[in-house]
Amino acid sequence: LYVNVSADPVRNISQTMFGISFEEINHSGAGGLWAELVSNRGFEAGGQNTPSNIGPWTVVGDESSIFVSTDRSSCFERNKIALQMEVLCDTDGDNICPAGGVGVYNPGFWGMNIEQGETYKVTLYVRSLEPIEMSVSFIGSNGLQTLATADIVDDDVTNWTKKEILLEANGTDTNSRLQLTTRKKCTIWLDQVSAMPLSTHEGHGFRHDLFNMLADLKPGFIRFPGGSFVEGDWLVNAFRWKETIGPWEERPGHFGDVWKYWTDDGLGYFEYLQLAEDLGALPIWVFNGGISRNDQVNTLLISPFVQDILDAIDFARGNTSSTWGSIRAAMGHPDPFDLQYVAVGNQDCGKKNYRGTYMKFYTAIKEAYPDMKIITNCDGSAQTLDHPADLYDFHVYTNAKSMFSMNHNFDHTSRSGPKAFVSEYDVTGNDGGKGSLLKALAEAGFLLGLERNSDVVEMASNAPLFVNANDRRFNADAIVFDSSKVYGTPSYWMQHFFKESNGATLLNSKLQTNSSSSLVASAVSWKNPEDNKSYLRMKIVNFGSNIISLKVLIDGLDGKSIDASGSTITTLTSTNVKDENSFNEPKKVAPTTSPLENASNKMNVILPPY
Ligand code: AHR
Repeated sequence: LYVNVSADPVRNISQTMFGISFEEINHSGAGGLWAELVSNRGFEAGGQNTPSNIGPWTVVGDESSIFVSTDRSSCFERNKIALQMEVLCDTDGDNICPAGGVGVYNPGFWGMNIEQGETYKVTLYVRSLEPIEMSVSFIGSNGLQTLATADIVDDDVTNWTKKEILLEANGTDTNSRLQLTTRKKCTIWLDQVSAMPLSTHEGHGFRHDLFNMLADLKPGFIRFPGGSFVEGDWLVNAFRWKETIGPWEERPGHFGDVWKYWTDDGLGYFEYLQLAEDLGALPIWVFNGGISRNDQVNTLLISPFVQDILDAIDFARGNTSSTWGSIRAAMGHPDPFDLQYVAVGNQDCGKKNYRGTYMKFYTAIKEAYPDMKIITNCDGSAQTLDHPADLYDFHVYTNAKSMFSMNHNFDHTSRSGPKAFVSEYDVTGNDGGKGSLLKALAEAGFLLGLERNSDVVEMASNAPLFVNANDRRFNADAIVFDSSKVYGTPSYWMQHFFKESNGATLLNSKLQTNSSSSLVASAVSWKNPEDNKSYLRMKIVNFGSNIISLKVLIDGLDGKSIDASGSTITTLTSTNVKDENSFNEPKKVAPTTSPLENASNKMNVILPPY
């Protein structure tokens, strides 16, 4: 590997070259990053007709002691369904309630993680024509151990009444439930039952461990909220931002019909923008452009959809006196969010109405916000686009071998015209398993090609980012979690090799090898803001099964003040290329760093197989 650090640098890589793509898929948000513990908190998941299915809520008691149903008596206009429980037993008389009471429980998303010493805020809305005496408890997985409990006693809840309770846990159980019970004969209505850990990232509702996994990647941008989630199978189920803002109790929630689960939309448009800000990443909002997987809005009818998107941009960027900016301010964020990029739809280019509707969005957004960068779904890498755009979206899902060979994908792309946003890349073939070392290496090979072609590629992100191990809707994913644990796949760790590339300088480098088909490399220099020093970083992928002894020659160091003593080598490999990480072995395949003993401008480096 020959690197010339004094030759004119090839270019500066974009500040936002490597980022993340967050989709509400695999319960990434609901039951994932969003720390809400209750699933179906508003009882709306079963639909707006009654009686409706309230699952995963379950009854505590039997038919002789309780009758649970739903009606449309909620005080919230956009989500009318409320739970009604008619308690048939009592503290005395013929039909005595069991000692633990009767009521309902919510198991959360495959169990709630309740931790000893932690405090949880339970909020609920209650109504009854009689005085109430209820217990609110976290119960362990055996259904017996009470981890925390408090009583709600109120003589007058004839009108809907909000109750907030803080519960401190006296034990730990990763598979707990929230239980609402009573021993008093009465009829009680419940709605909008929420349980959140008091401690979330900055109090913004993000689960600490999952947020930290993202922050550690130092993402330059975050694309949200999808993916196909944005489109919906049908427009009626697509993500509509206005339904996801404002007080959480008033959000109707919606069924994501592509990934087949309900979301209460606690993680809404505002929270996504907040997430981007908390990560120090530029938000890239993918909006539904009036097209789903199965139906499309006629171009002549698209104007209200266009206005809706202008409203969304006003919500993000408007000042506190603008129509929608004032609503953002009322939600606690008077300063505008730094929204500079929007994408019109997801994977919609081939659809009949796309070009027509796209142009309506493009023209209106550019007129109101000339600086807004607009991303088209149409691939401009192989042919010139027939419509204006600032960037074009590029997705690739393939097996490991072809992903590695896509190192050259952008070598011959036209150097004029919009740049690529590689917003979804992923090895999905069997050779990638559920996230093998081979998958990570193949993707690393692809990313080195993007670095080399960073004059035509501005941004790149792996997808999907998260998977709740209980609901794997798409394989393979970067970060795996359940209610209490998390680990990064080798692909996640591979992405760490690129986190200092944002804003780095691409250097002249050349790889001379007989193993050209299995070796790829790049060299960058980057400035560490912590010590203000420049670092040289060479990245090499050995996609083959042979040990390689690589001679590294670094030219152009003369006259520069060099300190090679602290040089390190970081390796991501394993004994078997099919190796994966797991909850039991979360770092079986993870980078290891050691001093590079012989660091100099002429050195040999041993590259293990794979
Ligand atoms: O990343 C998973 C899915 O793959 C996305 O939702 C979609 O855009 C692509 O087809």
